[in-house]
Amino acid sequence: MALHVITGTQWGDEGKGRIVDWYARDADITARANGGDNAGHTVTVGWQIYKLHLVPSGIIHPQVTAVLGGGMVINPASLADEMGMLRGLGVDVTPHRLRIAHTAHLITPAHRALDRAQEAARGRGNLGTTGRGIGPAYTDKAARRGLRLGDLLRADFPAMLTKHLETANEQLQALGGEPLAVPPILDEFARYAADLTPFIADTSLELYLALKEGKNVIAEGAQGTLLDIDHGTYPFVTSSSTTAAGALTGLGLGLDAAQGARVTGVAKAFQTRVGTGPFPTEVDGDLALRLRGSGANPWDEYGTTTGRPRRVGWLDLVLLRYALRLNGVTELAITKLDILSGLDKVGLCTSYQVGNRRVKDLEFGPTRLEECEPILEELPGWSQDVTSARKWSDLPGEAQAFLQRIETICEVPIQLISVGAEREQLVVW
Ligand code: IMP
Repeated sequence: MALHVITGTQWGDEGKGRIVDWYARDADITARANGGDNAGHTVTVGWQIYKLHLVPSGIIHPQVTAVLGGGMVINPASLADEMGMLRGLGVDVTPHRLRIAHTAHLITPAHRALDRAQEAARGRGNLGTTGRGIGPAYTDKAARRGLRLGDLLRADFPAMLTKHLETANEQLQALGGEPLAVPPILDEFARYAADLTPFIADTSLELYLALKEGKNVIAEGAQGTLLDIDHGTYPFVTSSSTTAAGALTGLGLGLDAAQGARVTGVAKAFQTRVGTGPFPTEVDGDLALRLRGSGANPWDEYGTTTGRPRRVGWLDLVLLRYALRLNGVTELAITKLDILSGLDKVGLCTSYQVGNRRVKDLEFGPTRLEECEPILEELPGWSQDVTSARKWSDLPGEAQAFLQRIETICEVPIQLISVGAEREQLVVW
């Protein structure tokens, strides 16, 4: 068995897409386990930028089969757009290359409308969701009234969809929203059913058989550990399991698949967050502008899915250690090191002051971050441009010291360092 889980260790947007792209060169399958089109994975190959929300980034490699796992919530309209976009770029998107779990849940226009209406009703206490219907779809799943991809194959699917829309319309009206017209949505979903039927499969079984045959499978995480429904900064989280263990359930794999698995934890060289919620090392002013970028480049810190400017701050090693433990991370990939070039000093949060105590590890997970004062270590910065570094010795001594300090505190080896958005801009340590 050869399972390699690639997981986000922060609040999402760690650059998992480009790390998956690197490892997918040697993969047979890349599989997404959780979330929906709230995610945004960007891969840059030469001048071509692939922005993916649902389809695993591995699909760009011609030998890879991409799997949308059962832990996902899938908006068929977004999926149809993405499949069309990929085909337009010359990617082969046929049923032998794209497999969709019959147990994944559907996101309907009603889920999206409810997401927006619920956020509006929360007012100033909103969660800052992406508005993609993620929470309402997972709510229906937990309430055992969700619609699954496999239901598209059933003769009574129109009746199931009608019932769902009627229930959702009642909820929408209770929130002061406009009810949705049912017939056009039935027509739209009849088209999706016809188009997607050949792609729908028992992907849990297919992944099991692939691993048994010794194939290389990458589980591609979406969002990040701190957005996990159970272990994140609740309630400012997404609605799915974003950890490596969650990937197993999301893909329908047993614990035998985890034996000997590699778990790459992806972390940005600084910290970002989009949406509401605590962020101990957040910075503002000129430094924030410097870390975020102007938005002129597609890889500046603006949400791939929503375009919202991301909040930025120094790398928080207390939270990173927590994420590494929760995921069982065996190696780290540090992304966007190039962004720190040119700063006089670079910060690392190595512990928190909580009342009169200094702590290196969280005592109640990330539930009381408001009470934590970050203790920052300032390390000397480097002025050199690192974007053409390809090996460890190409990096300035100060950048090496920064990375070594991360390794020492995290007690996990760093394997990859990204120094630019392009596929080849990587240092393999
Ligand atoms: P939802 O997943 O749309 O319900 O949003 C819940 C929270 O998760 C919000 O703070 C979002 O900004 C955040 N979120 C969801 N997906 C992503 C992602 O892919 N990257 C970063 N933040 C995300």
